[in-house]
This record gives sequence, C-alpha cells and structure tokens, in this order.
Amino acid sequence: MDIKRLLDKMSLKEKLYQLQQLDSNVIMYDENMPVTGILQKLELDENYIFETGSLLNSFGAKRTIEIQKNFLMHSKNKIPTVIMQDVVRGYKTLYPINLGLSCSFDMDLCEKCASMAAKEASVDGVHMTFAPMLDVSRDARWGRVMETSGEDTYLTCEIAKATTRGFQGDGKTYGLGVGCKHMAGYGAPESGKDYNLSDMSEITLREIYLPPYKASIDEGAMLVMAGQQTLNGVPCVLNSHLMKDILRDEWGFDGIVISDYNCLASTVDHGYSESHKQAVELAMQSEMNMEMATTCVVKYGEELVNEGKVSIEQIDKAVLRILKVKEKLGLFENPYRYADPNEANKILGCKEHKELARIASEESAVLLKNDCVLPFSKDVKSVALIGPLADEKQIVGSWWCAYDKNETVTVLEGIKNLLPYVKINYAMGCGLELDATDISQIDEAVELAKESDIVILCVGEDMRDSGESKSKAFLELSPAQKELIRRVTESNKNTATVLFTGRPLVLTEENKTAGAILNVFFPGTEGGNAIANLLFGNSVPCGKLTMSFPHNVGQCPVYYNHFKTGNYRTDDTKRMVFKSGYIDGPNKPLYPFGYGLSYTDFEYSSHKISSDIINDNGKITASVKVKNIGKYKAKEIVQMYIQDLFGSVVRPVKELRGFKKIELSPNEEKTVEFEITEDTLAFVGADLKRKAEKGRFRIFIGNSSEIEPFAEFEYK
Ligand code: BGC
Repeated sequence: MDIKRLLDKMSLKEKLYQLQQLDSNVIMYDENMPVTGILQKLELDENYIFETGSLLNSFGAKRTIEIQKNFLMHSKNKIPTVIMQDVVRGYKTLYPINLGLSCSFDMDLCEKCASMAAKEASVDGVHMTFAPMLDVSRDARWGRVMETSGEDTYLTCEIAKATTRGFQGDGKTYGLGVGCKHMAGYGAPESGKDYNLSDMSEITLREIYLPPYKASIDEGAMLVMAGQQTLNGVPCVLNSHLMKDILRDEWGFDGIVISDYNCLASTVDHGYSESHKQAVELAMQSEMNMEMATTCVVKYGEELVNEGKVSIEQIDKAVLRILKVKEKLGLFENPYRYADPNEANKILGCKEHKELARIASEESAVLLKNDCVLPFSKDVKSVALIGPLADEKQIVGSWWCAYDKNETVTVLEGIKNLLPYVKINYAMGCGLELDATDISQIDEAVELAKESDIVILCVGEDMRDSGESKSKAFLELSPAQKELIRRVTESNKNTATVLFTGRPLVLTEENKTAGAILNVFFPGTEGGNAIANLLFGNSVPCGKLTMSFPHNVGQCPVYYNHFKTGNYRTDDTKRMVFKSGYIDGPNKPLYPFGYGLSYTDFEYSSHKISSDIINDNGKITASVKVKNIGKYKAKEIVQMYIQDLFGSVVRPVKELRGFKKIELSPNEEKTVEFEITEDTLAFVGADLKRKAEKGRFRIFIGNSSEIEPFAEFEYK
C-alpha cells in the first residue's frame, strides 16, 4: 500500500475522522442504521462515520468482521478501521491481576500469559491492546496499583519487554499491536488520588517513571497512551516536553499517541485549555494523533485549519502515523487480521489456557506469614471454609474482555476438586463491604472452625474496590473481617488466612493474630484450583512482593529504594530525636519489596565478586550459593541489589539490578551468578544524562530487599 498516495487522495474531513477513536457501542454494524443516538450527541457526521480511524472494543469475531466489511464498503478510500481493546490480563481466560503476576518475577511466564491473551483476543477480532500498563507506583492508596508491576523500575522494564513480546506474538497466526500506557507518571498521583496531579523533578521522571515505556517501545510498541493527569502542571496529552521533546525527538517514536478516555476534552476541566477547540490546537502541537471517545478534533479541525491555527502538515503527519500503524498491522492486505469465529470457539478459554492461568496464579502467590500452619495435610477429614470470599466468583479480579464471571473457580470449588472426599463446613462469617461492622455471623463461623481439622479463611478486598478511580484513604480490612480473623484463629490454630487484594493492605494486626497469611491478590479464572494446590502442598508458594506493604497508611508512599536523607534513622525500633522518621511508628514497611516465604528454607552462602574494580566497558561477576535446606522442592527468587555510595545527585539506599528464579530439590545447591557492567551502574545524573559515574558501590544478594551488603567495589 502506498500510504503517501492514499493520504493525497483524502479530503480534510476524511483525514480528521482517521484521528478519531469511537467506542464500538456507538457504531451499529447494520448498514441500514449506521447512526445511533450517541453519535448524534457527539455531533458526528453520518456520512463520515465509516472513515473513523479506530474503534474501542471488539464485539467478538463474527460481528467484528461484519463491522469491518461495513467500513470497507462505505469508506471512500477503503481504509480499514483498527480495533483496540484493553486486553490487560487475559481476554476470556484471565490470569492474576498484573500486580500479582509481577510477584512471580518470571519473565517467561509473563510473556506466555501475554501471548495467550493475544491469541484469544486476536482470533476474536481485536487488533491492538492498550497494554502493558507501565506506570510505576509506590502508593498503595492508588486503586490502579493492581494494574501495575509494582514499585520498581528495573522489574517493570523487564516485564514491559516480556509482555510486549508476548502480546505481539508470532505475527503469523495471532498477535496484537501493543499500546503501552499511561505516559507518564500516572502512577504517582499526589496523595494517591486517581487523576490527581503528578509533580516531580526531571531526574525522577527520567530515572523512575519513563524507562518502562521506553522499554516497551524498543520492543515494538506501536502506540502510547497519554496519562489522564497533569505532569508538572501540564496535562500529559498536551505536554510537549513529554510527548514531543522526549517521546518523539529523543526516543524517535513514530507510532500513534492517543489521548485516554475523554481526556482531550477534560484538559479544559484541568484549567489548561480554554476551550475544546484550543485543546485541539495544542494537541496538534504536542503531536497527539488520535482522540479517544470525545470528538473535539473532528468538530474543530476544519475551523482551526481555515483560521491557520493548525496546519495541514500537522494533520497529515498525524494521519500518516495512523495509516502506517494500520499498514504495519497488515490491515490493508487483510482487514480482518486473525478474526475467525470458528477458531475463536476453539481457542477462547481452552484447557491449555486455563492450565497456564492456574500456573500463573500459583507462581504469583506470596506467603506473608507461616507459623508452621502450612502446608496442610491432604489426609484431613474436615475443612472449615470461612469468609466472604470463600465461595465468591469475584476473586477473579477486574479488567475483563470476553470473560464470563461464572467460569471462575471459587476456593470452595477448588478444594472440592482437589479433595472430593473431605467434609467441607462452609460459613461466610461476615460481609465484604468496605466498612462492614456486622459481626452477627461470626459465632457460627467460630463453631465450624472448632469442629473442623483445619480452617481456610478467605478475606480481603471487594474486587470492585480496586482499579480506576478506587483510591483509598484507609488500607485496613473492615472491622468485621478483622474480628473474624481474630476469633476464628483463636478457636483453631490450624487456620490459614487467604488474602485477596488489588493493592498492599495494612496487615499490622493480622501479622500478629493470624498463624499463616497467603496473599493471592486477585488470582484469575483458575484461582480456586491454584489456591487448593498451594494450601495442600501440591505447589509451594514462591512469589515475592513487588510493592511494600505498609505498617500504616501514614507511611505511604513507602518503597525500598528511598534516599538516605541527612539524620538518617538507623534504628527503626526506637524513638530517636532529630532523626528522619515518625515518632509513632517505624520507617520500614511491614513486608518489604522482594519479601515472600516458602514451605522450605534456603541457605545463602559463599557470596563473591570476581574483582573489586570495574573499568570502562569492563564487567565483573557476583555470585552466591543457594541451598535448599528444607523438605520441599521449591523455587526461589534470588535478588541482586546495588548501592551507589556517592553521585552527582544523591542515590538510593539500594536498587534492584538483577534477579534469577531457580528451582531446588531438598539438599540441592546451585551457584547463581550476576553480571555487573557499566550499564548496571548507570543512572540519570545532574546533567540529566543516563550514565555510570566513577566511584564506590556496594553489592547485596539475597532473598528480599532487606538484606545487608557483602562487598564493595569501585568503578574506575
Ligand atoms: C483508562 C485506560 C483505558 C481506557 C479505555 C480509561 O478510562 O484509563 O487505561 O485504556 O479507559 O478503556
């Protein structure tokens, strides 16, 4: 396809409609009724509807093919539309929420999960996904932490690469174009409130928040979605420094920049654009190419061109970018791409995909506490299954596409599948509301706990209380759930608490009262089966937290790679005057980044570095021996952190710079090695350039971020 020639044939109005993304709901696929009420409200021109550049959401393979046929029949220049959707954590088969999956530290698994999602979505008619979501977040109050990979930039970059590859797929039989989001700093809203401003130094922006988007783009992402918030005073979508200077000029990104839902229009609400018309003028300057949901560009584009405020060259550049992406996706040759109703019937929710989802749920679970309670023996006669989430389909967690909630395996179903002959005594115990105080059902639950061999207590968040616009000022479980944990655990010491959550919670009290806490986040379609396997030792928990769990909400944002500060408080257990800290609580979180227990024990020994000097272009190797000294074959995530002792700007107390996931049988020992090069030491310095600075470094290898250094070396 000669894109340039195609562009030359297009009228201005046709071009403006290419810059539009509409919600699929507003397009009817029946050619006799192309315009719905909403379309009229949006003031769209019926004669140009089939020039619309993109649709948000597929309606399944069959209808999507019909819609595309309609486009090709009516579009003057026969330009196919591109169908985009939030395929965030699966399509029909759902794997754990992204925060959960990140705790697996398993890049191969992340790639496989994305690839499975792409397979299901692309045969069902989707062309591009609005994923991966790459907003680093350090604040558990923000509801969208569930969609992130946690607080660490290095890990988020690794996940960005793996998932981008996975979504893109083999490109022959399935695959999705990748649209990463939400650039930039959307994960750092002030006070954890969704859509609130993010305000940060250029160094923090470049060091912490930007690298994951860049990693996804380098791996092939074709679209970038702008954040909904203001970054340093300017709405992201109109932020020329971000979208033009950095994204286009520095990174050379030539794909599509899309505004988030309604966000171009809402730059007026921010008090930045004076009007929707001015928003379009500014958007053309910051090189936005596609407008999601609102219709300012098609409404005001012509007027702005006639007034000379927007040039035809600016419009052409934007259209060209969209057409190029369509070409890259192969839509001109095959406008239906992989959409195939028969294949969709076979692939969506197939056995193989469910199996992968189950494995992903098992690998993502993090064992937060275990006083010799877990694993349970499979020989038990009776199980008390208690809690508002014990027989609840919503443990699947939010962000669905073609998902049917009824397919979720609940914990009750999972236990029955694994142990069909065991007697299960079920009680809800209390409600799931955010502030539930009704404790009237707890007595019944306690009685069941007393008469059963073991107790599985399923508590946590309502799925609908995390996600977009679900910020929280309190991070504790409801009073009723706290009471339930206290009383049930008291009545039977063989109680394991299974925690469902979309974010780190404050578990300071539960850490004292509960005998065991297994955090499974929202585990997806196969949650119940995975949880049964984990509780009864068919699989051993190996996940490590990717976001710190605070002691109290006042600590938020709390994260492991903080700065030292002057007057650094060295003893967190004592109240120390003139030290940086709280007088009524610790600085450290309850459970730190990288933390997670196992049913077995691992011994770390023989920490070594190959040299204590590293030169330009040189490399050294750090190694450690890890031995399984417990009873279960299990996986361990070995983590390497580096501390840069001095720099042109102050440096964090430590930063993750490598990790390896290994599996060891009892008594087995492996040597784990990490390479350290100049690149491992690089950071964004005072001159805003990313490079390593000469000086001394400390190195740490171990099983969480709370470990001590074992050696120092010098970069000379
Ligand atoms: C969200 C985006 C999402 C878009 C389209 C917005 O509300 O912020 O993450 O991609 O909707 O569904």
